[in-house]
Amino acid sequence: MSNSIKLAILGLGTVGTGVVDLINDNLDELKRRSGRDIIITEVGTRRHRDDIDPNIVQNSDLMATAASDDVDIVIEVIGGTTLAKDLIMHAIKNGKHVVTANKALLAEHGNEIFAFAEEHNVHVAYEAAVAGGIPIIKVMREALAANKVEWLAGIINGTGNFIMTEMRDKGRSFDDVLSEAQELGYAEADPTFDVEGIDAAHKLALLASIAFGTPLQFDKVYCEGITGITLQDVNYAEELGYRIKHLGFAVRRDGAGNDSDAGIELRVHPTLIPQDALLASVNGVKNAVLVNSHPLGQTLYCGDGAGAGATASAVMADVMDLVRVLGSKNSTDQNNHSHHVPHLAFIPDQLSDTPILRAEQMTTGYYLRVHAYDSPGVLADITRILSDSGINIDAILQKPAHKVGQVPVIILTLPVVESQMNLAIKEIEELDTITDKVVRIRLDELA
Ligand code: HSE
Repeated sequence: MSNSIKLAILGLGTVGTGVVDLINDNLDELKRRSGRDIIITEVGTRRHRDDIDPNIVQNSDLMATAASDDVDIVIEVIGGTTLAKDLIMHAIKNGKHVVTANKALLAEHGNEIFAFAEEHNVHVAYEAAVAGGIPIIKVMREALAANKVEWLAGIINGTGNFIMTEMRDKGRSFDDVLSEAQELGYAEADPTFDVEGIDAAHKLALLASIAFGTPLQFDKVYCEGITGITLQDVNYAEELGYRIKHLGFAVRRDGAGNDSDAGIELRVHPTLIPQDALLASVNGVKNAVLVNSHPLGQTLYCGDGAGAGATASAVMADVMDLVRVLGSKNSTDQNNHSHHVPHLAFIPDQLSDTPILRAEQMTTGYYLRVHAYDSPGVLADITRILSDSGINIDAILQKPAHKVGQVPVIILTLPVVESQMNLAIKEIEELDTITDKVVRIRLDELA
């Protein structure tokens, strides 16, 4: 092996270009930290770029680049789950270490990809796949390795957080802010992934696996986006001392003595959180992950969750880790990767089959907005149904009639199992005095 580390980049979009720029900008820093020359030998791109260093081969045959003899580490930043998967599998088969920012691919096919990588004694590193520039994968897999994670909650989609922040602070429209996020390179190729919560669900699936040592189970994540959030609810929440954020939760539940309710909650949804919670002040494109683990307690990790620079920073952190695994030019241990951190943080044969709970088994507090005719006894009917269902009301706010004869009633509840809340809401909606569907948003005190 020569003293240089040779990189191939598959894809020259926002992130790929960010990686090229980072290497150009910080070349000396990278060499001083790694003791190696880090050079891009090849890029796989379908569209020739005149602004790229002419010493770098531009190859439109991406499969050839993924297996090139002149490459040690393949960086996959084309995105998607079809060609990207073929490229990564091809690179692994050809003995290349892989760095990827592809959360969708790993959330859906990570179990297979990691097993294939183990078989071929190479690594697939994916710091950039979750929370952009925040080194949360390294923290969870390495810094918290001695802890038992109880739960984590994260703002893990920058676009969604940017939209919610701009709407609340500036009263801007949803579409207007989304267009800006696309221009700034924050949004996914298909922006419904951002606003429908799918991107956050991909990232949550990865975080949950490395938190609890379970296989990746993206298909079991309960997923709600931000498209249904209205300014009206944002304002009522603020009036009651809460802020609405789009959060991903991974929570270990012991089932309170009932084994059939024990398991893991995996859910992404808009959530009311106290205004004085640290996560409530995480604004714009920032991401943050709050981890509660034993014995450490709560720790919070915050930073830019999207964009070229933040993502390139995470990609290159993985490259630097791999450079160390690859060893120095004098090392006799270049092919012994047995000391590497397991892909999913736990030894593969130690992954647990703890069940993922169904939505009806999940427990959260609730914000309810009920529209009722302004007549005697309406409030009493609603509160009676909640109390008969064993649901504890934490706060209640009745606004003056905004339409002739109709009043919005806002209710905050303590945590309740979702199936119980479903039944109560059904009963409330059957009351003659209720004019519309009940709006419900989950609530969490993050305590
Ligand atoms: N679309 C993603 C986001 C990019 O907005 O967070 C980073 O994964």
